[in-house]
Formats: sequence, structure tokens, C-alpha cells
Amino acid sequence: MSKLECHNKSFLRSVYTTFGTDFLHTDPEILSKYGRDWTKRHTTRAQGVVFPRKVQEVAQFLKICEAHRVPVVPSGGRTGLAGGALAIQGEFILSLDRMNQIYPLNELGRNVRVQAGVITEHLQNHCDLYGLMWPIDLAAKGSSQIGGNIATNAGGMHVLRYGMTRNWILGLQVVTMAGEILELGKTLEKCNLGCDLKQLFIGSEGCLGVITEAELKLVKKPKNQGVLLLAVSDITKATHLLKTLYEKSQLPILAFEWICPKSMSYVCRQTNISFPFDQAYGGYICGIFELAPDQTLLDSEISILLEDFIHDGFVENGIIPQSSLDQQQVWAIRENITEALHTLTSGNLHKNDIAVPIHNLSKFIEELDNLQKTHFPDMEMIHFGHLGDGNLHINWFDPKENGSHDHFWQKTREINESVFRLVDKYKGSISAEHGIGLLKREALKNYMSSEEQSYLLALKKLWDPHDLLNPGKTVPT
Ligand code: FAD
Ligand code: MLT
Ligand code: ZN
Repeated sequence: MSKLECHNKSFLRSVYTTFGTDFLHTDPEILSKYGRDWTKRHTTRAQGVVFPRKVQEVAQFLKICEAHRVPVVPSGGRTGLAGGALAIQGEFILSLDRMNQIYPLNELGRNVRVQAGVITEHLQNHCDLYGLMWPIDLAAKGSSQIGGNIATNAGGMHVLRYGMTRNWILGLQVVTMAGEILELGKTLEKCNLGCDLKQLFIGSEGCLGVITEAELKLVKKPKNQGVLLLAVSDITKATHLLKTLYEKSQLPILAFEWICPKSMSYVCRQTNISFPFDQAYGGYICGIFELAPDQTLLDSEISILLEDFIHDGFVENGIIPQSSLDQQQVWAIRENITEALHTLTSGNLHKNDIAVPIHNLSKFIEELDNLQKTHFPDMEMIHFGHLGDGNLHINWFDPKENGSHDHFWQKTREINESVFRLVDKYKGSISAEHGIGLLKREALKNYMSSEEQSYLLALKKLWDPHDLLNPGKTVPT
């Protein structure tokens, strides 16, 4: 009998006595829904899901779990791509779904306090009413939660202009495994009280504490933007293009996204988006620029630059959609790639979410292409992503495999080893924005110094001495 099963009865009695019956749910459907995120590799084995409504309930629950040594997985919108929210070893899931309140927005200070379970898009729609925005924008925004965005330090489409989630957090309310409620930071841009503990929780993937509320910093929403889609011969041309735009244009670039030819072809095929050009090219850039209120991309310096680019052979073809509907359609190409690949492969898709310094990107991709051809010729490799900040998503699947997937998952270990070695060679990171979760924890051990690992471990021991919060994830042990 496992340690967990042996404690289960008295644990469950404590939970029901403290919270009544509408707190802990154990129906198989709920368990399988809440036991997993977007990664399809592991079988879920959650024991129960709890739905607290307020911070005190989170604190009480964690206290009970600690007393009974019951492991807990904090759970947001479960859109994670690193397996951080998976419950595969009999954990109890703590869902933030019911903690979804947005408090009154402060227009003068440009900030807003929210509960962790607020859906990212709901917050964005709310800020829209004030002409403001929380600038974290990702295709999962319809389901991801603010707590999940903070716990993963999410990046997304606008990192080039606004940076990662970390830049947009003024304060956090966090509950520790011991059931303490901590208020970290204040609603202030300036607050130097020595070491800033809230930073530890941003990107900690539910391993140090549960984020229950956050003070978010907002920014004025650009009134007008222009989208363009360019066809280029390869990624080297695309990086030169960005450099030239930096040199010659004053327009702030909100997004500069790479789409490889296969990504373009699959997304169009899977989503009924019509192929945007009359022929295929070596790659595509989907860009978004911030414009003055009455400006269009066509009457900006971009259109003159674009003519020069085409003339000089930098760019092969280009589309500048005019109506906002046309802009949305072009942007939909980029936004729908993940879902298209997910559907195409029924989730049997392996992802490397890597970043390399942008000046190394073309050489990296050249070697990556060779690696695929030489060592993994049977695998389909597709890349796309946030070229502007050096973060590419390399997706792998086996086009022939449709029965047992063991062979495929075994192969992905070899893929990881080769890709991560290459990333390291080019001074990159094996995890850019999706986090470590379950999927990259072993690999992390090889790409972080042993000194750094021991400090991380010491931190984990300090906040969660019995290793109950999201055990087996993120922190290399
Ligand atoms: P979950 O998946 O529920 O959890 C993620 C991790 O955070 C887990 O470890 C979990 O335990 C922990 N966690 C969740 N809530 C809390 C909390 N309140 N307190 C403590 N820990 C918590 N990511 C990007 O960075 N950029 C992108 O552009 C991007 N695009 C995506 C597009 C699609 C279509 C999909 C499916 C995913 C995408 N992602 C992207 C990944 C994912 O959306 C982000 O990682 C997101 O921030 C996860 O939020 P979530 O609420 O779904 O978290
Ligand atoms: C994206 O940029 O679309 C996301 O990070 C999701 C993915 O990597 O598939
Ligand atoms: Zn991304």
C-alpha cells in the first residue's frame, strides 16, 4: 500500500469536514480532464480535484495536504506544453478555476489586481474597455489563466516589444505548502526592499507555492496596428530583414514571427485557410507593427522599404492586408499552427521550445536541417515561432506511425539529446518560454551547473520541505 493510500482515509475525512461536499471532486471524467495539459505523452492518475473559492481555502487545503503528506498539482488553464500540470503519480489537483475575479482597475496607476484563475483573454477584454492592455498575448489566451501565465513566465507573440510576463507583475499573493499567505511586492513600480521574493515564483511552475492573486502592470493599448506577411528564401534572409528594419524604420515592431514552409502548408491544409501566395517559398515572416492612429502600413516607410527589399532580393513576395478582417485572416495563419499540428498528429507531437541568440539563428537552423536529414530522416521536422527574440518551436512527428507510439517517444529522447547539444553549442536555452515541467526535467540536469542545481534544490527544500508541490517536475533532483 502506498504512503498516499494509507493516509487517504483520514486525509479525505479532514477535507470533507473542513470544506463540505462541493470542494473535492473525484468523478473519472473530471479527473481525466483536470489531470492533464496539452501534452499527450503520459497517462494521468489524479486522485481528486479541489476547487477553492478563496485564498483561505487554498491555505487550509495545503496545510491539510502537508500534514498528511499528500502531493498537490496547482492547475491553471492546462494549456501548458511541458507537462507541468500533469498529475501522473496520484496527486490531488488544486484548480484555480473558481478564483476568477478581476478587482477594480486603477486607471491612474495603470494596474489591476486579479485572482489567479482569471482567463487571460477575459483580462484582455476587460482592459480593452479602458484603452489599456496586459501585453502578454498567446494563442492559448482563450483558456490559459493569469496564474498559469505567471507560473510559466509566459512569453508569446509580443515579447520583442514588451518582454516576458515577469516584466508585467508588480505583486503576488502566494500560498506556501505550510499554508502561509504571503503578499510579495506592492502596487508600485519602485519598491527596492532588497531581494525581491516574488520573482522566485514567476516561472516556478507550481513547485514553490500556489499563486492566488496578482497585481498586474498595464500599458496603453496601441490604437492602430498593421500586419504583413512576407515570403523569403530562407531564415538567413529573414534575420537580415529584421536588422534592416531596426536600422531603417522607426515603427515599433510588435511581432516578427517565422513560419517554415511546412508549417505554412500544414496550417493551411488543416484549417481551410487558403494558401496566401500563388507559389511556395523558403519561409515566411508574419509581422505586426504599431502605427499612428490614422496611419496604414502602406503609407508608412515600411511600404517603401518593402519595395527596396523586393528589388534587392531580400524579400520574394509580400502581402499587406488592409481591412482589419484581412489582417485577422493573415494573423490567423500564425496563431493556428499549434492547433493544426496538434490535430494532424492527434497529439503525438514532440516539441523543442528553444532559444538561441538571434545572430546565431541561421547557422543553428542550417545545422538543425542537416541533423534531421542525417539522423532522423523518417521524422517530419517543422519549425516556427518568435524569430524576433530568437525563440523557435521545433516540432517533430512520425508521418508513418499510427499504431503504438512507444517507438516515437523513444526516438524523441535521441532527438532531445541531439537538439539540446546543438542549442548549447550556439549558446542557447533548452527551454525558452514553455518551461521545464515533466518533459525537460531530466535534460535540465545536463544544461545547468551543479552549483546552480544545488541552490535550486535548497530553495525547493526551504519552501516545500516534503516535496509535495508538483513533485517530479521542474526542479532537478
Ligand atoms: P497550466 O498549463 O495549467 O500550468 C502550467 C504550469 O503552471 C504547471 O506547472 C502548473 O502547476 C503551474 N500553475 C498553474 N497555475 C498556477 C498557480 N495559480 N500557482 C502556481 N502554479 C500554477 N506559451 C508561451 O509562453 N508563449 C506562447 O506563445 C504560447 N502559445 C501557446 C499556444 C497554444 C495553442 C497552446 C496550447 C499553448 C501555448 N503556450 C504558450 C503554452 C501555455 O499556454 C503557457 O505556458 C501558459 O502560460 C500556461 O498557462 P495555463 O493557465 O494553461 O497553465
Ligand atoms: C506558439 O508560439 O505558437 C506557442 O508557443 C505554441 C507552440 O509552441 O506550439
Ligand atoms: Zn511560442
